[in-house]
Amino acid sequence: MNYYDVLEIFPQVKKFRNKVIEKIDGRKILDLCTGTGAIALLIAKKFPESQIYGLDISRHMLRKAGKKAGNLANILFIEADAQKIPFESDSLDVIIVSFGLHEMPGEMRSRALAEIARVLKRDGRIVLIDYEKPKNFLARYLLYLFLRIFEPKHALALLDEQLEDTAKTFGISAVEESHSFIRLIYGKKVSA
Ligand SMILES: C[S@@+](CC[C@H](N)C(=O)[O-])C[C@H]1O[C@@H](n2cnc3c(N)ncnc32)[C@H](O)[C@@H]1O
Repeated sequence: MNYYDVLEIFPQVKKFRNKVIEKIDGRKILDLCTGTGAIALLIAKKFPESQIYGLDISRHMLRKAGKKAGNLANILFIEADAQKIPFESDSLDVIIVSFGLHEMPGEMRSRALAEIARVLKRDGRIVLIDYEKPKNFLARYLLYLFLRIFEPKHALALLDEQLEDTAKTFGISAVEESHSFIRLIYGKKVSA
């Protein structure tokens, strides 16, 4: 089972992907850390007039994404590092990062967030989805176990971070919604 398959065992993940789609609109949309393109493909189908970019550091994931995309004309997959997003400053309307931030250790995550803030237009939208620490003891224990087995060590550190506060330090005003072990952070770039 690869990483992507692991996320698929949570039925909630599918629900959250659909929730993200309800929250966005725009001409140029980037799905950062796209994996095999699950969200990027949903967006491309829902917004045929928009250009969707799915960026990932893994060629292997992108190859799978490309196969899933078939002949969809409005989606382009890009192999790149989230710490150096190959777009001009202030050029994107929406950026989504779904289960990508926990993959990066602290400094790397900061550089990726700084890049997000750079390439997003002023008032451009951002949606982050990632794990969160459940309040329920048993759920917390099971999530920790899951993260220890399937995710990098630094994934645990993200559970203690208030992502809406972190986003603010990069000029992104955001609201964090908590949903058991998943959180959604919606925001927009407020600085120039
Ligand atoms: C758990 S998958 C999430 C995939 C997808 N967004 C989803 O919600 O199903 C995380 C992805 O982040 C990618 N990734 C990790 N570090 C990255 C980086 N520095 N730059 C770009 N992609 C990265 C991995 O290659 C992987 O495909």
